[in-house]
Amino acid sequence: MRLSVIGCGYLGAVHAAAMASIGHDVVGIDVDERKIASLAQGEAPFFEPGLPEILAEGIASGRLRFTTDMAEAQGADVHFIGVGTPQQKDGYAADMTYVNAAVDSLIPYLRPGDVVAGKSTVPVGTAAGLAERVTLTGATLVWNPEFLREGFAVKDTVDPDRLVAGVPEGEEGERAADVLREVYHPAVAKGTPFIVTDYATAELVKVAANAFLATKISFINAMAEIAEVTGADVTQLADAIGHDARIGRRFLGAGIGFGGGCLPKDIRAFSARAEELGRGESVAFLREVDAINLRRRERAAQLVVEAFDGNVFKKNITVLGAAFKPHSDDIRDSPALDVAVRLHGLGAWVTVTDPEALGNAARMHPQLNYVADRDEALRGADGVIVVTEWDEYRRELDPAHAASLATGRVVVDGRNCLDATAWRAAGWTYYGMGRP
Ligand code: UDX
Repeated sequence: MRLSVIGCGYLGAVHAAAMASIGHDVVGIDVDERKIASLAQGEAPFFEPGLPEILAEGIASGRLRFTTDMAEAQGADVHFIGVGTPQQKDGYAADMTYVNAAVDSLIPYLRPGDVVAGKSTVPVGTAAGLAERVTLTGATLVWNPEFLREGFAVKDTVDPDRLVAGVPEGEEGERAADVLREVYHPAVAKGTPFIVTDYATAELVKVAANAFLATKISFINAMAEIAEVTGADVTQLADAIGHDARIGRRFLGAGIGFGGGCLPKDIRAFSARAEELGRGESVAFLREVDAINLRRRERAAQLVVEAFDGNVFKKNITVLGAAFKPHSDDIRDSPALDVAVRLHGLGAWVTVTDPEALGNAARMHPQLNYVADRDEALRGADGVIVVTEWDEYRRELDPAHAASLATGRVVVDGRNCLDATAWRAAGWTYYGMGRP
Protein backbone atom coordinates (compact mmCIF):
# COMPACT_ATOMS: atom_id res chain seq x y z
CA MET A 1 0.00 0.00 0.00
CA ARG A 2 1.02 3.60 -0.42
CA LEU A 3 1.24 5.47 2.87
CA SER A 4 2.15 8.98 3.93
CA VAL A 5 3.28 9.81 7.46
CA ILE A 6 2.93 13.44 8.44
CA GLY A 7 5.23 14.49 11.26
CA CYS A 8 8.62 12.77 11.47
CA GLY A 9 9.44 13.16 15.14
CA TYR A 10 9.74 10.19 17.41
CA LEU A 11 6.42 8.66 16.54
CA GLY A 12 6.34 9.53 12.84
CA ALA A 13 9.91 8.62 11.94
CA VAL A 14 9.59 5.22 13.59
CA HIS A 15 6.17 4.65 12.07
CA ALA A 16 7.33 5.53 8.55
CA ALA A 17 10.38 3.26 8.73
CA ALA A 18 8.46 0.43 10.40
CA MET A 19 5.69 0.56 7.77
CA ALA A 20 8.31 0.39 4.99
CA SER A 21 9.90 -2.57 6.78
CA ILE A 22 6.65 -4.54 6.46
CA GLY A 23 6.47 -3.87 2.72
CA HIS A 24 4.58 -0.60 2.28
CA ASP A 25 5.62 2.27 0.05
CA VAL A 26 6.01 5.18 2.47
CA VAL A 27 6.66 8.91 2.25
CA GLY A 28 7.51 10.70 5.51
CA ILE A 29 6.70 14.42 5.54
CA ASP A 30 7.78 17.10 8.00
CA VAL A 31 8.21 20.88 7.94
CA ASP A 32 11.63 20.60 9.63
CA GLU A 33 14.18 20.60 6.79
CA ARG A 34 17.09 19.46 8.95
CA LYS A 35 15.17 16.48 10.26
CA ILE A 36 14.08 15.49 6.77
CA ALA A 37 17.62 15.88 5.38
CA SER A 38 18.99 13.61 8.08
CA LEU A 39 16.23 10.99 7.70
CA ALA A 40 16.60 11.05 3.91
CA GLN A 41 20.23 10.03 4.39
CA GLY A 42 19.15 7.18 6.61
CA GLU A 43 20.27 8.91 9.80
CA ALA A 44 17.95 8.74 12.79
CA PRO A 45 17.78 12.17 14.46
CA PHE A 46 17.53 10.44 17.87
CA PHE A 47 18.73 7.24 19.52
CA GLU A 48 16.35 4.35 19.06
CA PRO A 49 17.60 0.75 18.89
CA GLY A 50 16.83 -0.89 15.54
CA LEU A 51 15.73 2.32 13.82
CA PRO A 52 18.95 3.04 11.85
CA GLU A 53 18.79 -0.46 10.36
CA ILE A 54 15.19 -0.22 9.09
CA LEU A 55 15.74 3.35 7.89
CA ALA A 56 18.72 2.29 5.80
CA GLU A 57 16.94 -0.78 4.51
CA GLY A 58 13.79 1.19 3.59
CA ILE A 59 15.71 3.88 1.75
CA ALA A 60 17.90 1.38 -0.10
CA SER A 61 14.84 -0.59 -1.22
CA GLY A 62 13.18 2.58 -2.56
CA ARG A 63 10.12 1.96 -0.37
CA LEU A 64 10.89 4.80 2.04
CA ARG A 65 11.52 8.46 1.31
CA PHE A 66 11.29 11.74 3.17
CA THR A 67 10.28 15.20 2.01
CA THR A 68 9.11 18.60 3.23
CA ASP A 69 6.64 18.84 0.35
CA MET A 70 3.10 18.02 1.48
CA ALA A 71 2.03 17.58 -2.17
CA GLU A 72 3.85 14.24 -2.09
CA ALA A 73 1.17 12.90 0.21
CA GLN A 74 -1.14 12.88 -2.79
CA GLY A 75 -1.84 9.39 -4.02
CA ALA A 76 -1.25 7.61 -0.73
CA ASP A 77 -4.06 5.31 0.41
CA VAL A 78 -3.56 6.09 4.08
CA HIS A 79 -2.18 9.31 5.61
CA PHE A 80 -0.94 8.97 9.18
CA ILE A 81 -0.85 12.07 11.37
CA GLY A 82 1.99 11.68 13.87
CA VAL A 83 2.83 15.25 14.88
CA GLY A 84 3.45 16.29 18.49
CA THR A 85 0.90 17.54 21.01
CA PRO A 86 3.14 19.16 23.65
CA GLN A 87 1.93 20.76 26.85
CA GLN A 88 0.82 24.36 26.28
CA LYS A 89 3.30 26.95 27.48
CA ASP A 90 0.75 28.67 29.69
CA GLY A 91 -1.37 25.76 30.91
CA TYR A 92 -1.85 22.02 31.30
CA ALA A 93 -3.82 21.42 28.11
CA ALA A 94 -2.30 19.92 24.95
CA ASP A 95 -1.12 22.34 22.28
CA MET A 96 -3.05 21.35 19.17
CA THR A 97 -1.28 23.76 16.79
CA TYR A 98 0.66 21.03 14.98
CA VAL A 99 -2.25 18.64 14.55
CA ASN A 100 -4.44 21.39 13.13
CA ALA A 101 -1.68 22.63 10.83
CA ALA A 102 -0.96 19.09 9.57
CA VAL A 103 -4.61 18.42 8.75
CA ASP A 104 -5.06 21.85 7.11
CA SER A 105 -2.07 21.37 4.86
CA LEU A 106 -3.02 17.77 3.99
CA ILE A 107 -6.64 18.50 3.03
CA PRO A 108 -5.92 19.91 -0.46
CA TYR A 109 -4.22 16.62 -1.41
CA LEU A 110 -6.87 14.18 -0.18
CA ARG A 111 -8.87 12.10 -2.65
CA PRO A 112 -12.25 10.45 -2.08
CA GLY A 113 -11.67 7.06 -0.45
CA ASP A 114 -8.39 8.02 1.23
CA VAL A 115 -8.04 7.18 4.90
CA VAL A 116 -6.56 9.72 7.32
CA ALA A 117 -5.32 7.95 10.45
CA GLY A 118 -4.64 10.11 13.50
CA LYS A 119 -1.91 8.69 15.74
CA SER A 120 -1.05 11.71 17.88
CA THR A 121 -2.23 11.73 21.51
CA VAL A 122 -5.09 14.23 21.53
CA PRO A 123 -7.79 15.50 23.88
CA VAL A 124 -10.96 13.42 23.59
CA GLY A 125 -13.30 15.07 21.10
CA THR A 126 -10.54 16.11 18.69
CA ALA A 127 -11.26 13.46 16.04
CA ALA A 128 -14.96 14.35 15.82
CA GLY A 129 -13.96 17.96 15.10
CA LEU A 130 -11.31 17.05 12.53
CA ALA A 131 -13.64 14.57 10.80
CA GLU A 132 -15.95 17.39 9.76
CA ARG A 133 -13.15 18.89 7.69
CA VAL A 134 -11.71 15.62 6.36
CA THR A 135 -15.12 14.28 5.27
CA LEU A 136 -15.64 17.24 2.93
CA THR A 137 -12.88 15.82 0.71
CA GLY A 138 -14.49 12.37 0.51
CA ALA A 139 -11.75 10.88 2.71
CA THR A 140 -12.42 9.04 6.00
CA LEU A 141 -10.84 9.90 9.34
CA VAL A 142 -9.91 7.12 11.77
CA TRP A 143 -8.23 7.43 15.16
CA ASN A 144 -5.46 4.90 15.61
CA PRO A 145 -3.55 5.68 18.81
CA GLU A 146 0.06 4.63 19.21
CA PHE A 147 1.35 2.89 22.33
CA LEU A 148 5.05 2.64 21.50
CA ARG A 149 7.62 2.84 24.25
CA GLU A 150 10.86 4.64 23.56
CA GLY A 151 13.69 2.15 23.41
CA PHE A 152 11.30 -0.52 22.05
CA ALA A 153 9.59 1.68 19.47
CA VAL A 154 10.36 -0.44 16.41
CA LYS A 155 9.15 -3.66 18.01
CA ASP A 156 6.08 -1.95 19.49
CA THR A 157 5.14 -0.56 16.05
CA VAL A 158 5.65 -3.73 14.02
CA ASP A 159 4.41 -6.11 16.69
CA PRO A 160 2.12 -4.17 19.06
CA ASP A 161 0.17 -5.83 21.89
CA ARG A 162 -3.07 -4.38 20.53
CA LEU A 163 -4.35 -2.20 17.71
CA VAL A 164 -7.15 0.29 18.20
CA ALA A 165 -9.18 1.94 15.43
CA GLY A 166 -11.74 4.61 16.21
CA VAL A 167 -13.96 4.84 13.12
CA PRO A 168 -17.16 6.59 12.05
CA GLU A 169 -20.40 4.62 12.15
CA GLY A 170 -21.63 2.49 9.24
CA GLU A 171 -20.09 1.10 6.10
CA GLU A 172 -17.58 3.90 5.73
CA GLY A 173 -16.16 3.06 9.17
CA GLU A 174 -16.08 -0.67 8.43
CA ARG A 175 -14.21 -0.06 5.20
CA ALA A 176 -11.69 2.20 6.94
CA ALA A 177 -11.12 -0.45 9.63
CA ASP A 178 -10.43 -3.00 6.86
CA VAL A 179 -7.91 -0.61 5.31
CA LEU A 180 -6.08 -0.40 8.66
CA ARG A 181 -6.17 -4.21 8.96
CA GLU A 182 -4.40 -4.33 5.61
CA VAL A 183 -1.82 -1.77 6.75
CA TYR A 184 -1.00 -3.79 9.86
CA HIS A 185 -1.26 -7.15 8.06
CA PRO A 186 1.59 -9.01 9.84
CA ALA A 187 0.26 -8.16 13.31
CA VAL A 188 -3.33 -8.88 12.30
CA ALA A 189 -2.29 -12.23 10.77
CA LYS A 190 -0.70 -13.35 14.03
CA GLY A 191 -3.89 -12.59 15.93
CA THR A 192 -3.01 -9.30 17.63
CA PRO A 193 -6.21 -7.93 19.21
CA PHE A 194 -7.73 -5.36 16.84
CA ILE A 195 -10.31 -3.22 18.58
CA VAL A 196 -12.71 -1.30 16.37
CA THR A 197 -14.54 1.43 18.25
CA ASP A 198 -15.75 5.02 18.07
CA TYR A 199 -13.52 8.12 18.00
CA ALA A 200 -13.94 9.08 21.65
CA THR A 201 -13.11 5.61 22.95
CA ALA A 202 -10.04 5.35 20.73
CA GLU A 203 -8.78 8.73 21.93
CA LEU A 204 -9.46 7.83 25.56
CA VAL A 205 -7.77 4.40 25.31
CA LYS A 206 -4.46 6.15 24.85
CA VAL A 207 -4.73 8.67 27.68
CA ALA A 208 -6.34 6.11 29.99
CA ALA A 209 -3.44 3.69 29.41
CA ASN A 210 -0.87 6.37 30.18
CA ALA A 211 -2.85 7.63 33.18
CA PHE A 212 -3.00 4.08 34.54
CA LEU A 213 0.74 3.53 34.10
CA ALA A 214 1.55 6.87 35.74
CA THR A 215 -0.79 6.04 38.60
CA LYS A 216 0.84 2.65 39.08
CA ILE A 217 4.28 4.26 39.35
CA SER A 218 3.07 6.96 41.72
CA PHE A 219 1.25 4.37 43.80
CA ILE A 220 4.47 2.49 44.49
CA ASN A 221 6.31 5.75 45.06
CA ALA A 222 3.66 6.71 47.62
CA MET A 223 4.37 3.36 49.30
CA ALA A 224 8.06 4.28 49.21
CA GLU A 225 7.24 7.43 51.15
CA ILE A 226 5.47 5.35 53.79
CA ALA A 227 8.31 2.82 53.79
CA GLU A 228 10.75 5.64 54.49
CA VAL A 229 9.08 6.50 57.79
CA THR A 230 8.44 2.92 58.88
CA GLY A 231 11.68 1.19 57.94
CA ALA A 232 9.91 -1.04 55.39
CA ASP A 233 11.47 -2.01 52.05
CA VAL A 234 9.38 -0.89 49.06
CA THR A 235 11.16 -3.22 46.61
CA GLN A 236 10.18 -6.27 48.67
CA LEU A 237 6.72 -4.83 49.05
CA ALA A 238 6.46 -4.46 45.25
CA ASP A 239 7.68 -8.05 44.75
CA ALA A 240 5.12 -9.33 47.22
CA ILE A 241 2.10 -7.48 45.86
CA GLY A 242 3.33 -8.03 42.30
CA HIS A 243 2.88 -11.81 42.72
CA ASP A 244 -0.84 -11.13 42.78
CA ALA A 245 -1.69 -11.59 39.09
CA ARG A 246 -4.37 -8.91 39.41
CA ILE A 247 -1.67 -6.39 40.34
CA GLY A 248 1.45 -7.57 38.48
CA ARG A 249 5.04 -6.49 39.17
CA ARG A 250 5.62 -4.36 36.07
CA PHE A 251 5.60 -0.57 36.53
CA LEU A 252 6.02 -1.01 40.27
CA GLY A 253 9.61 0.25 40.17
CA ALA A 254 9.87 2.85 42.94
CA GLY A 255 12.50 5.53 42.51
CA ILE A 256 12.69 9.07 41.17
CA GLY A 257 9.54 8.54 39.15
CA PHE A 258 8.34 8.98 35.61
CA GLY A 259 9.30 11.54 33.00
CA GLY A 260 9.69 11.68 29.24
CA GLY A 261 7.67 13.16 26.42
CA CYS A 262 4.43 11.30 27.21
CA LEU A 263 3.38 10.36 30.72
CA PRO A 264 3.78 13.78 32.44
CA LYS A 265 2.18 15.83 29.68
CA ASP A 266 -0.53 13.28 28.96
CA ILE A 267 -1.85 13.14 32.53
CA ARG A 268 -1.88 16.95 32.68
CA ALA A 269 -3.68 17.27 29.37
CA PHE A 270 -6.18 14.63 30.53
CA SER A 271 -6.92 16.63 33.70
CA ALA A 272 -7.32 19.80 31.68
CA ARG A 273 -9.67 18.12 29.22
CA ALA A 274 -11.74 16.53 32.01
CA GLU A 275 -12.18 19.98 33.56
CA GLU A 276 -13.35 21.39 30.23
CA LEU A 277 -15.87 18.57 30.10
CA GLY A 278 -17.12 19.40 33.60
CA ARG A 279 -15.68 16.16 35.02
CA GLY A 280 -12.51 17.46 36.62
CA GLU A 281 -13.26 15.53 39.81
CA SER A 282 -13.21 12.20 37.92
CA VAL A 283 -9.47 12.45 37.35
CA ALA A 284 -8.58 14.80 40.22
CA PHE A 285 -6.35 11.97 41.51
CA LEU A 286 -4.03 12.58 38.55
CA ARG A 287 -2.97 15.85 40.19
CA GLU A 288 -1.89 13.79 43.19
CA VAL A 289 -0.15 11.28 40.89
CA ASP A 290 1.79 14.22 39.43
CA ALA A 291 2.58 15.67 42.87
CA ILE A 292 3.85 12.34 44.26
CA ASN A 293 5.99 11.93 41.16
CA LEU A 294 7.61 15.34 41.51
CA ARG A 295 8.22 14.84 45.25
CA ARG A 296 10.42 11.85 44.53
CA ARG A 297 12.88 13.97 42.56
CA GLU A 298 13.11 16.32 45.52
CA ARG A 299 13.53 13.34 47.85
CA ALA A 300 16.46 11.95 45.84
CA ALA A 301 18.30 15.27 46.03
CA GLN A 302 17.49 15.47 49.73
CA LEU A 303 18.99 11.99 50.31
CA VAL A 304 22.28 13.19 48.84
CA VAL A 305 22.19 16.27 51.05
CA GLU A 306 21.44 14.16 54.14
CA ALA A 307 24.32 11.85 53.29
CA PHE A 308 26.62 14.88 53.54
CA ASP A 309 25.21 16.03 56.87
CA GLY A 310 22.93 18.63 55.33
CA ASN A 311 25.33 20.38 52.98
CA VAL A 312 26.54 19.47 49.49
CA PHE A 313 28.26 22.79 48.88
CA LYS A 314 31.45 22.16 46.85
CA LYS A 315 30.96 18.39 47.04
CA ASN A 316 31.80 16.50 43.85
CA ILE A 317 28.66 14.59 42.99
CA THR A 318 28.65 12.22 40.03
CA VAL A 319 25.24 11.70 38.48
CA LEU A 320 24.93 8.41 36.59
CA GLY A 321 22.29 8.98 33.93
CA ALA A 322 20.59 11.87 32.15
CA ALA A 323 17.99 10.20 29.91
CA PHE A 324 14.47 9.85 31.33
CA LYS A 325 14.92 6.09 31.08
CA PRO A 326 17.49 3.64 29.69
CA HIS A 327 17.71 2.79 25.95
CA SER A 328 16.85 6.40 25.09
CA ASP A 329 18.62 9.70 24.55
CA ASP A 330 15.42 11.57 25.41
CA ILE A 331 15.75 14.14 28.17
CA ARG A 332 12.27 15.65 27.94
CA ASP A 333 11.05 16.10 31.51
CA SER A 334 13.82 13.77 32.63
CA PRO A 335 13.71 13.09 36.38
CA ALA A 336 17.42 12.25 36.14
CA LEU A 337 18.43 15.68 34.91
CA ASP A 338 16.01 17.35 37.28
CA VAL A 339 17.86 15.77 40.20
CA ALA A 340 21.22 16.83 38.72
CA VAL A 341 20.01 20.42 38.32
CA ARG A 342 18.66 20.49 41.89
CA LEU A 343 22.03 19.33 43.28
CA HIS A 344 23.81 21.94 41.20
CA GLY A 345 21.42 24.55 42.60
CA LEU A 346 22.36 23.43 46.11
CA GLY A 347 25.99 24.24 45.43
CA ALA A 348 27.35 20.80 44.55
CA TRP A 349 29.85 20.36 41.74
CA VAL A 350 27.84 18.08 39.53
CA THR A 351 29.30 15.79 36.87
CA VAL A 352 26.79 13.99 34.67
CA THR A 353 27.44 10.95 32.51
CA ASP A 354 25.11 8.95 30.25
CA PRO A 355 25.74 6.50 27.38
CA GLU A 356 23.43 8.31 24.92
CA ALA A 357 21.89 11.52 26.24
CA LEU A 358 24.87 13.78 26.99
CA GLY A 359 24.55 15.90 23.83
CA ASN A 360 20.91 16.64 24.47
CA ALA A 361 21.53 17.25 28.17
CA ALA A 362 24.40 19.66 27.53
CA ARG A 363 22.28 21.70 25.14
CA MET A 364 19.51 22.06 27.70
CA HIS A 365 21.58 22.49 30.87
CA PRO A 366 24.98 23.89 29.90
CA GLN A 367 25.70 24.77 33.54
CA LEU A 368 26.43 21.13 34.42
CA ASN A 369 29.71 19.32 33.80
CA TYR A 370 29.41 16.44 31.33
CA VAL A 371 31.84 13.55 31.00
CA ALA A 372 31.18 10.83 28.45
CA ASP A 373 33.32 8.12 30.01
CA ARG A 374 31.68 6.56 33.05
CA ASP A 375 34.91 5.84 34.91
CA GLU A 376 36.26 9.33 34.21
CA ALA A 377 33.02 10.74 35.59
CA LEU A 378 33.44 8.69 38.77
CA ARG A 379 37.03 9.75 39.39
CA GLY A 380 37.31 11.93 42.49
CA ALA A 381 33.57 11.81 43.31
CA ASP A 382 32.59 12.52 46.90
CA GLY A 383 29.21 10.97 46.22
CA VAL A 384 27.44 9.08 43.44
CA ILE A 385 23.77 9.01 42.51
CA VAL A 386 22.22 6.62 39.98
CA VAL A 387 19.26 8.26 38.25
CA THR A 388 18.86 6.24 35.02
CA GLU A 389 19.11 2.47 35.30
CA TRP A 390 21.35 1.80 32.30
CA ASP A 391 23.02 -1.63 32.39
CA GLU A 392 26.34 0.24 32.46
CA TYR A 393 25.52 1.28 36.05
CA ARG A 394 23.09 -1.38 37.18
CA ARG A 395 24.83 -4.56 36.08
CA GLU A 396 28.26 -3.64 34.77
CA LEU A 397 29.55 -1.28 37.43
CA ASP A 398 31.43 -3.26 40.04
CA PRO A 399 31.16 -1.44 43.41
CA ALA A 400 34.79 -2.23 44.25
CA HIS A 401 35.90 -0.73 40.93
CA ALA A 402 33.73 2.35 41.58
CA ALA A 403 35.33 2.65 45.02
CA SER A 404 38.79 2.61 43.41
CA LEU A 405 37.84 5.69 41.38
CA ALA A 406 35.74 7.76 43.79
CA THR A 407 37.05 9.68 46.77
CA GLY A 408 33.93 9.33 48.91
CA ARG A 409 31.78 6.29 49.69
CA VAL A 410 28.24 7.64 49.39
CA VAL A 411 25.92 6.10 46.81
CA VAL A 412 22.27 7.05 46.34
CA ASP A 413 20.27 4.58 44.26
CA GLY A 414 17.58 6.74 42.67
CA ARG A 415 16.18 3.77 40.73
CA ASN A 416 16.56 1.01 43.34
CA CYS A 417 18.52 -0.83 40.70
CA LEU A 418 21.79 -1.61 42.51
CA ASP A 419 22.63 -4.63 44.61
CA ALA A 420 22.61 -2.88 47.99
CA THR A 421 24.39 -5.76 49.74
CA ALA A 422 27.24 -5.79 47.22
CA TRP A 423 27.70 -2.01 47.40
CA ARG A 424 27.71 -2.06 51.21
CA ALA A 425 30.19 -4.94 51.19
CA ALA A 426 32.51 -2.81 49.04
CA GLY A 427 32.50 -0.12 51.71
CA TRP A 428 29.80 2.18 50.36
CA THR A 429 27.13 3.87 52.44
CA TYR A 430 24.06 2.95 50.37
CA TYR A 431 20.79 4.92 50.27
CA GLY A 432 17.80 3.58 48.30
CA MET A 433 14.42 5.13 47.59
CA GLY A 434 12.01 3.72 50.14
CA ARG A 435 14.26 0.94 51.30
CA PRO A 436 16.53 0.79 54.34
C1 UDX B 1 5.05 5.65 27.65
C2 UDX B 1 4.05 4.49 27.53
O1 UDX B 1 4.61 3.34 28.17
C3 UDX B 1 3.78 4.20 26.08
O2 UDX B 1 2.82 3.16 25.96
C4 UDX B 1 3.24 5.46 25.44
O3 UDX B 1 3.00 5.26 24.07
C5 UDX B 1 4.23 6.61 25.61
O4 UDX B 1 4.52 6.78 27.00
P1 UDX B 1 7.69 5.94 27.38
O5 UDX B 1 7.49 7.39 27.66
O6 UDX B 1 8.59 5.53 26.27
O7 UDX B 1 6.28 5.25 27.07
O8 UDX B 1 8.27 5.31 28.72
P2 UDX B 1 7.87 4.22 29.80
O9 UDX B 1 8.65 2.99 29.55
O10 UDX B 1 6.41 4.09 29.94
O11 UDX B 1 8.48 4.91 31.11
C6 UDX B 1 8.01 6.19 31.52
C7 UDX B 1 8.72 6.67 32.75
O12 UDX B 1 8.32 5.91 33.88
C8 UDX B 1 10.25 6.59 32.69
O13 UDX B 1 10.78 7.80 33.23
C9 UDX B 1 10.57 5.42 33.59
O14 UDX B 1 11.83 5.53 34.18
C10 UDX B 1 9.46 5.52 34.64
N1 UDX B 1 9.14 4.26 35.31
C11 UDX B 1 8.70 3.17 34.60
C12 UDX B 1 9.28 4.17 36.69
O15 UDX B 1 9.66 5.14 37.36
N2 UDX B 1 8.97 2.99 37.31
C13 UDX B 1 8.53 1.90 36.63
O16 UDX B 1 8.28 0.88 37.27
C14 UDX B 1 8.41 1.99 35.24
